[in-house]
Amino acid sequence: MTNRIFVVDDDVVSLKLSTAVLKQAGYEVLTAQRGYEALQRIDQIRPDLLILDLNMPDMTGYEVCQKLRSNPRYTHLPILMLTGANTLEEKVKGFEAGVDDYLVKPFQPVEFQVRVKSLIRRNATAPAVAVSKSVSKVVALCSLRGGVGVSTLAIDLALSLVQIWQLPAVLLDLALMGGQDAVMLNLPLRNSWADLGKLDPAEIEIEQVQRALLAHPSGLYVLAAPHLLEQGEKVTAEHVSRVIALLKERYHYLVLDLSHNIQETTLAALDAADQILIVMTPELASVYVTARTLAMFDGLGYSRNNISLILNSTFQHHALARSDIESALKHPISLVVPFASDLLINAINTGVPVMTKAPEHPFGVLIEDFAYALSKDEHKLLQPPTPSPAWKRVTQRYQQQRSKK
Ligand SMILES: Nc1ncnc2c1ncn2[C@@H]1O[C@H](COP(=O)(O)OP(=O)(O)OP(=O)(O)O)[C@@H](O)[C@H]1O
Ligand SMILES: [Mg+2]
Repeated sequence: MTNRIFVVDDDVVSLKLSTAVLKQAGYEVLTAQRGYEALQRIDQIRPDLLILDLNMPDMTGYEVCQKLRSNPRYTHLPILMLTGANTLEEKVKGFEAGVDDYLVKPFQPVEFQVRVKSLIRRNATAPAVAVSKSVSKVVALCSLRGGVGVSTLAIDLALSLVQIWQLPAVLLDLALMGGQDAVMLNLPLRNSWADLGKLDPAEIEIEQVQRALLAHPSGLYVLAAPHLLEQGEKVTAEHVSRVIALLKERYHYLVLDLSHNIQETTLAALDAADQILIVMTPELASVYVTARTLAMFDGLGYSRNNISLILNSTFQHHALARSDIESALKHPISLVVPFASDLLINAINTGVPVMTKAPEHPFGVLIEDFAYALSKDEHKLLQPPTPSPAWKRVTQRYQQQRSKK
């Protein structure tokens, strides 16, 4: 299971840097920029390791550490203090406050990773605290070019995951200014992100998030974009991180439909994703922007293993060839979606997506197989107790393909 690390640092650059190094090493990373916020969120995050900066505006790292150590739940939580402060006196004070290890910035990424690994390993033998870890797989779909089919694919993939596994899943519309997922699913907009944007992100509870969800008859839940654009503006990166973290503990799959602008909320969502699907169309502008996106993701330290490309044919003629696109981007395309204009326009205009109405249409088959491939390994390993029609369809197709080989 992926270990989860909570990094608390008021310096954004330093936070990004340590996050990138930890993610590269395969950890799940959550962040806070204030000591008080860290104390508020730690119960819900339940990290395997806490990394604390020393000097923060509201509380020092020592104070955060002392507060945690006075709670029996956190007696054994490994704490690494990461700070620019380098005197012996400061170090001694840190150990007295209860930190387990101390690393001075700037650090060597390798040393950082080794210390983190050793702290987590040491704790693995410590008495277990009753924790229930995240159960969720988070899949984000994005494109920096609009209108390439991100929402269509996010909706159909989310529906497919629900239909295959018959487990609750949530689609989060993160095109916060004008996202259309609720309309595309014919759901009256009774609740939305607007309900959560009004709240202090650190204090949001899962029950409040659940009240903001719209229920689709399929079993899919939707956190819709607000009706008014100005309500979308109130939703911050902290809201997004908090809401995703809470939902991750309750729902097996989260599908994120991202805005085509890279805003702080978009970055927060990308940071929380286990798998990122970049959607593009076979035309030059889309390929260009995908190249820029891949470069940015490399810079953010996202592993290429967790990034897949989807080539969506939103037009019928003059398409660039798949092989040319792959060699230009130096990244394989995982899924090619054919042109299916009539089918998809009809789906949008009726509010009944293809996966609800016609999962056996060739478009539906492609999406269903891809949704299965994206599913959690622990699900794919075992046959569900009562297999769904969708599960039977997919596994039958897999077997047929295998027997052909
Ligand atoms: N494979 C396809 N074949 C034909 N049309 C498609 C295909 N995929 C998507 N479309 C059409 O492209 C249009 C845009 O789709 P969609 O709203 O899903 O894109 P988007 O990337 O979410 O857009 P936005 O940037 O506005 O959020 C819709 O009319 C949809 O039906
Ligand atoms: Mg969209």
